[in-house]
This record gives sequence, structure tokens and C-alpha cells, in this order.
Amino acid sequence: MPEALFLRACRGEAVERTPVWMMRQAGRYLPDYRAIRARHDFLTCCRTPELACELTLQPVAKLGVDAAILFSDILVPLPGMGAAVDFRPGPHVERPVGSAADVDRLRVPDPEESTGFVLDAIRLLRRSLPDNVPLIGFAGAPFTVAAYLVEGSGSKSFARFKRLLYTEPRTARALLSKCAAALGAYAAAQVRAGAQAFMLFDTWAGLLPPDDYGAFAAPYAREVFGSVLEAAAVMDVDVPRIYYGGESASYLEQCSELGANVIGIDWRQDLAGARRRLGPAFAVQGNLDPAVLLATPAAIRERASRVIESARLAGGRESGRGRGPAARGHVFNLGHGILPDTPPENARYLVDVVGELTRRTHDD
Ligand code: CP3
Repeated sequence: MPEALFLRACRGEAVERTPVWMMRQAGRYLPDYRAIRARHDFLTCCRTPELACELTLQPVAKLGVDAAILFSDILVPLPGMGAAVDFRPGPHVERPVGSAADVDRLRVPDPEESTGFVLDAIRLLRRSLPDNVPLIGFAGAPFTVAAYLVEGSGSKSFARFKRLLYTEPRTARALLSKCAAALGAYAAAQVRAGAQAFMLFDTWAGLLPPDDYGAFAAPYAREVFGSVLEAAAVMDVDVPRIYYGGESASYLEQCSELGANVIGIDWRQDLAGARRRLGPAFAVQGNLDPAVLLATPAAIRERASRVIESARLAGGRESGRGRGPAARGHVFNLGHGILPDTPPENARYLVDVVGELTRRTHDD
């Protein structure tokens, strides 16, 4: 049997159509998700392998996506590091990190001991998922996780975190190193448990000027991907590494030096331009504006076809609009997470339309 479409697209191989999945594809926009959440709180869902497994599978069955992403959250490893969190529904860190002493108190835990439930969910999912739907493991990138640790919650500007970066860079670097060690071990454990691709979410890196991105975000993301590569090499498997750098237009070239082979592109960028900046060695993932899924089927179709065309332009397969071959090295996705108000039938329609617009026909 040929390898799954999604994995082949991540490697830049020729594909019979463009694979598609959606960031945050499991979530509140799905009635089945809300039904489970009515009975269990969010962290219980993350910490119970059977529930995490069921929630991971929901969008696979409902939408027909080409990849499953583990149901969890980027802040799930924090309690094991010694930082308690809860969700109301946004994340809150009980005692935010503010000093060098706070950083010293954080632990780099053994992932099997502190997050064994995540690894059990991965093992369960590998037995439950169909062969053609690979499982993506993930973590938050050290910069983005450290942003929550210092800020204590989500924020528009993350000003408290930035003040620490700019006034106490040594403390900030110690914190980022600790996050990189903990998240690298966590990522490697996911690969050993059976994750077939690994994605790093650096959502808040876009808050940085490009030179500070190089100082405070890039080296630590690279360290996590290094751990993934090592774990994959020991197992003799090729695990695609996907990096989502938030609003990354100002430092996209730097994203090519992290050890990832797929780069997530937000919708503020043009996919063809992003591909030209990254070069042919990289696959791209993206980049439909998630708000398009609030619009009509006609608008979804039109804007999905623009994304597909943009991927084709830089993919060296220029073709007319409409149906045609899938570009190499393109995984269709949203430019950020699906919005909670999204009608599930619109998400389903997007999956169908991407298939229809990129499937190779007999005359090709
Ligand atoms: O993609 C998936 O379906 C897998 C699960 C997943 C969740 N969070 C579940 C979740 C993933 C990959 C994440 C990543 C995540 N979490 C990121 C990076 C990606 C991004 O969107 O930028 C970030 C920044 C977080 C932090 C976070 N978790 C926030 C800001 C919130 C609250 C607001 C929101 O968007 O819901 C969460 C809670 C959360 N994480 C929920 C889910 C399904 C909602 C919890 C609920 O049911 O109330």
C-alpha cells in the first residue's frame, strides 16, 4: 500500500490530490465535541486517553480530513514542569514565572511520568486510526509556551513577557532553555509512542521583531526539532516536522533554519511568495483565512481555489484556474485555527472542494 497522502505531500513527493486538514479541527464548533465537554472539563478530556482518542477521531469521521492531530493543548506539559494551569476557557497559569528563582524551580520532567496519558492516547490512536490518516503529534514551541508561563494567560501584546526578554535576557534565556529541554523530551516521547508527524506551534513568535526572533524563538524551536530528529533516527522512521510560526512574514527565511521540513503559512502572506522565499526544499501548509469558513459555499470554493492556485504557481506546475494537478509540497490548511462559530458543514465542504479542485483526472 502506498504511504499516506499527507506524509507524501510533507516530503514534497508527487500526490494524486492535495491533502487537507485544519488547525484546531477538534473543538467547540463540533456538536459532538460540545456533547463530550458538557460531561467532562477540558483538562479531563486531555488527560483521559479514551476521551482524547475519541475527540481526535471526531473530525476525521465528520470532515474526512487526511490527517489527525492529537487532542491535547500546548499547555498540557506545564503541570509536569511545576506550573499548574487551568482553562476558563482560555489558559491560566496559577503562579506565573517572574524571576530567576521561579525559573530555577521549574522542572524538566520525564515525559512518561508526567504526561504518560498523552503517550497512551497516541498509542491508542495508532490502533484506532485508518492507515491512510496519519497522526500528528504536537507541542508548543518554547517561545510560545514561555510567553504563557510569564504572562500567566493569553494577551494582546504579551508586554510582561517582552519586558522580561528585554530587561533580563539571561533569565529569559534560562527559561527558554528549560522549556526547550522539557518540550524536546516531550516531543521525542510522542515520536517513540507512534506520532507519524510532529508539529510545533509558535503562535506568539509573530510578536517579535525579526532579530529578536533569531535570538529568542529560533534557537529553541531548533532544539525541539533536533530531539524529534534524534528520536526518529533511533526508530529508523522519517517523521515530517511542521513549524507554524504565527504571523511569520517578517522572519520566514529564518523558519527555514529550524530543522523543519514543512512550514505553516498564515493567511496574511501569499503562498506563492512564501514558497519562493523558503525555496524548493520546503513543503508549505496553509493558508486559508479561517473566517472564510463563516461565508457561503461559493466564497469558500473561490478562496480555496485561490490558495490552490498560489501553491501551484510556485510549485512549478502552472496551470489554468479550476481543476488540475495538485502542486507538490502543499498541505492545504487554514492560516490559523478554525473559529468556534464555524458551521461544521462548511468545514466539510472545504475538504470536499479541495479534493475536487486538485484531484488528477483521466485526461491529465
Ligand atoms: O488542533 C486540534 O484540534 C488539536 C487540539 C489543540 C487544542 N489546542 C485544543 C484546545 C491544539 C493543537 C491546540 C494548540 C494551542 N492551544 C495553541 C496553538 C495553536 C493556535 O491556535 O495558535 C494555542 C495558542 C493554545 C492555547 C489555548 N488553548 C487557548 C488560547 C485556548 C482558549 C481559546 C480557544 O481557542 O479555545 C485553549 C483552549 C483549547 N485548546 C480548546 C481546545 C479544543 C477549547 C477548550 C474548551 O472546550 O473550552
